Amino acid sequence: MASSHLLLLTLLCGLFVYRCHGACAEVDSDTEAVAGKGFKLGCISCKRRSEVDGAATVEWYFRPSGEADSIRIYTYNEDGPTIESDHFLDRIDWNGSKRSNDIQDASIYLLNVTFNDSGVYQCYFNRILFYDNYEYHNVVTKVVYLTVVAKASRGTASIVSEVMMYVSIIGLQVWLLIEMIYCYRKIAAAGEEALREAANAEYLAIASESKDNCAGVQVGE
Ligand SMILES: *[C@@H]1O[C@H](CO)[C@@H](O)[C@H](O)[C@H]1NC(C)=O
Ligand SMILES: *[C@@H]1O[C@H](CO)[C@@H](O)[C@H](O)[C@H]1NC(C)=O
Ligand SMILES: *[C@@H]1O[C@H](CO)[C@@H](O)[C@H](O)[C@H]1NC(C)=O
Repeated sequence: MASSHLLLLTLLCGLFVYRCHGACAEVDSDTEAVAGKGFKLGCISCKRRSEVDGAATVEWYFRPSGEADSIRIYTYNEDGPTIESDHFLDRIDWNGSKRSNDIQDASIYLLNVTFNDSGVYQCYFNRILFYDNYEYHNVVTKVVYLTVVAKASRGTASIVSEVMMYVSIIGLQVWLLIEMIYCYRKIAAAGEEALREAANAEYLAIASESKDNCAGVQVGE
């Protein structure tokens, strides 16, 4: 049981280290928020050429579930952060790159999530890369489909690790049982053998004794 947990942990750590290798990694956002709690809407866009200087501004859009139109809810640019929608008034904090115009992480933090916050969120990076002779503009978009639930559902990793725990417990017990039966049979067989040998030895002893006796009798005659 312990070893299976260790194995899982090692695997997860391996994955984690792999993804976090280097300065910037485009980790996908979580997509399930719990009502009444805070939630980090992740949005990361790494520069293709990390050595080239860049600058980016960010806009977030939101389309509530069941509605057709997106509204702009948040911008982050030279003037700093601005919440653009009353629905999110005082409820958004910046969780992205700090103290830099060269934004690669544009994550925001929603406070006091409500069920009305479920829907589609999009973040736009308007990025400029400064090369020696020219500037390169591009726009990167990321989409997060957010569902709001009343209680956190369990992560897959925790379910998988629990199933593996039960499988390994049952496996070990079956192995133990088989081993016990095997040993019991072996001991029983060895016991029978010993008994038979003992009986044989006794028989031989008696036989040779009676033979001796017979010989004695013969000699006596
Ligand atoms: C994101 O912002 C929230 C609210 O300001 C803060 O509680 C949280 O620690 C921040 N998380 C990260 C990863 O910066
Ligand atoms: C969250 O909601 C609770 C209750 O509605 C309120 O008391 C609290 O001030 C809110 N917090 C924020 C950061 O809006
Ligand atoms: C959610 O939206 C519905 C319909 O637009 C509105 O009646 C309700 O007050 C909203 N709830 C919250 C917590 O914003």
